[in-house]
Amino acid sequence: MNHFDYQADGQMACEGVSLAAIAETVGTPVYVYSTATLVRHFTVFRDAFKTHTPLIAYALKANSNLSVIRTLAKLGAGADTVSEGEIRRALAAGVPADRIVFSGVGKTGHELAFALDAGVAEINLESEPEMALLARIAADKSVRATLAIRVNPDIGAGGHAKISTGKSDNKFGVSMSEAERLYAQASNTASLNPVGVACHIGSQITDLAPMEQAFRAMRALVERLRGDGMSVERLDLGGGLGVPYFDSPEPPSPGAFGSMVEKVMDGLDIQLAFEPGRVLVANAGVLVSRVIHIHERPEGKKFLVLDAAMNDLIRPAMYDAYHDIRPVEQPGEAAPRDVYDVVGPICETGDTFTRDRTLPLLKSGDLVAFMTAGAYGAAMSSEYNSRLLVPEVLVDGDRYAVVRPRPTYDDMLSREPMAGWL
Ligand code: LLP
Repeated sequence: MNHFDYQADGQMACEGVSLAAIAETVGTPVYVYSTATLVRHFTVFRDAFKTHTPLIAYALKANSNLSVIRTLAKLGAGADTVSEGEIRRALAAGVPADRIVFSGVGKTGHELAFALDAGVAEINLESEPEMALLARIAADKSVRATLAIRVNPDIGAGGHAKISTGKSDNKFGVSMSEAERLYAQASNTASLNPVGVACHIGSQITDLAPMEQAFRAMRALVERLRGDGMSVERLDLGGGLGVPYFDSPEPPSPGAFGSMVEKVMDGLDIQLAFEPGRVLVANAGVLVSRVIHIHERPEGKKFLVLDAAMNDLIRPAMYDAYHDIRPVEQPGEAAPRDVYDVVGPICETGDTFTRDRTLPLLKSGDLVAFMTAGAYGAAMSSEYNSRLLVPEVLVDGDRYAVVRPRPTYDDMLSREPMAGWL
């Protein structure tokens, strides 16, 4: 469910604001986000839990725009962060430190020290050397570092090999037996305060079965640790719930996910945490782009050349991801259609959004919207080919704000001081 719909005038709007109007004033390409959709998705996820009140630590990596983070923070979201930059973003957007989780396979000493100084709720450790580093840094500061151990349950899940994280040959977390050993070790280290265990097995997961299997294994781990006399207060079950990029298969609803979790955790007294990213923001955003022209090959192939490119939305190039592409002006029922390869202007064949897609007939100047682009869209954008960083707009009812302006070419060039000897 989202708030991008065709209005009576035949134009697609985000809530009460026409996408064409935004394209006119802000220019294209541009990301547009819907506050109502963000609110709805957070609320649906939160309300999926009946017997627990989990910490919902929004995974900032999906969309780290400050206004998006603040919208969710105002609803009670925490933040799952993976770098000093993300911790700073979470704090700047008003997420209280005691709702910030710091995850990631390669935290530097400087980042761990920063997280301790910021007073984050918990540092999720992924390896033994990282634990040793944290113990030293916390000891130097004369503090006890609150931590969880990230477990790799050796269960594969996720929409693409590049985003599966829960198998033992992935770089993430430690095995179940390692987790037990490290938890005991942390319990016996003065500068460490182990409070829980964590897992995250992949992203764009459309089947609850592997998650259920992983969560059962995590519950068993908690019970073993407690059986050995250790205190385990928190269980972080990660993110990963998929969203509908296609009409089918429908991914499980947050409601079904919540019921599954509560069934698996029935009777276990523990503070649950989740790190959802995509499921909160994907459907809350579109990328609006203008058709530059249609390039027709003599053999008949038609390239729809857009002003958006792989630097603005890299998911198709990187994960062969599918995004629905809709004309911003609603085509009539009987509108003629054509088959296009939809491409951007970047100088490599990888800059292809889709091949052989049947779309309503389009012409130079028309606007199109890439749907379900709120997650891992702007957050993964770059200036490749010296294209200006794509701007972002947040809509709320009838009003909108540019929440990341398009830089100027001067901004871009002035970031690079010329080497003195040149
Ligand atoms: N927690 C951890 C430790 C993670 O590594 C991730 C995502 C999340 C939470 C949030 O997962 P989500 O709920 O969004 O599935 N760029 C890729 C997705 C990469 C996901 C990386 N980790 C894409 O565009 O599909």
